[in-house]
Amino acid sequence: MSLKSINRHLKTQFLGREILHFKECDSTNRIAKELTNHGTLVIADRQTAGRGRLGRQWESNKGGIYMSVILPAKNTPAVITLVCAIAVRRALGKGEIKWPNDIVIDGKKVCGILCERTENSIVCGIGININNKVSKDIPAVSITGVNPSRLVAEVLNELESLTECEFESLREEYESYCININRPVEAIFENRSVKGIATGITATGELKINTPDGEITVNAGEVSVRGVYGYV
Ligand code: BTN
Repeated sequence: MSLKSINRHLKTQFLGREILHFKECDSTNRIAKELTNHGTLVIADRQTAGRGRLGRQWESNKGGIYMSVILPAKNTPAVITLVCAIAVRRALGKGEIKWPNDIVIDGKKVCGILCERTENSIVCGIGININNKVSKDIPAVSITGVNPSRLVAEVLNELESLTECEFESLREEYESYCININRPVEAIFENRSVKGIATGITATGELKINTPDGEITVNAGEVSVRGVYGYV
């Protein structure tokens, strides 16, 4: 990862103006959670203990993008996760978002986002499969032909302008990228499974699902979408 090249493409006022770069670390989220300076970017060429959502691991071979940025806790981690997903989708210029935090290209996962709260901040961890080997339990894809430093800068550029907006004004854009909407989905949460059709996102970032028993909103857990990641 070239810091010079990140800086060259950075148009932000405060995101990424301080960068901690590691050739290798355990987890950029773990490190960022110990810091307090809003806007700081922690980035690594590889991670030895990359963390994913729901207690999973995030495979972090050399080549991929492993970055964590520290934001002020102006919103919930759930909403900031959706805002980060819009930032990555905009920066990539392609793909869809699988609620809440996966960026998917041709039905395969290219990016995952893990936002974690600390006392005064939200640490936004973003992992993008680019120029790296992927072998995960769910179908994943690694993109090529994109300059990783430039992509990091573009994610930060988008994220900074998005964090100035209320989520309400971004909801429609999120829904336009969201692969769940109008598709059959199965939500697994609170130890139960509910099937229905996803219809939209609430103002606080939950997924709305129309079920035979009426509308429910899901704020956590796993939601499978028919036709994505091999779910039939
Ligand atoms: C997921 O889809 O499960 C979320 C994956 C988030 C991975 C990123 S990589 C950079 C940051 N550091 C971590 O340990 N995890 C996040």
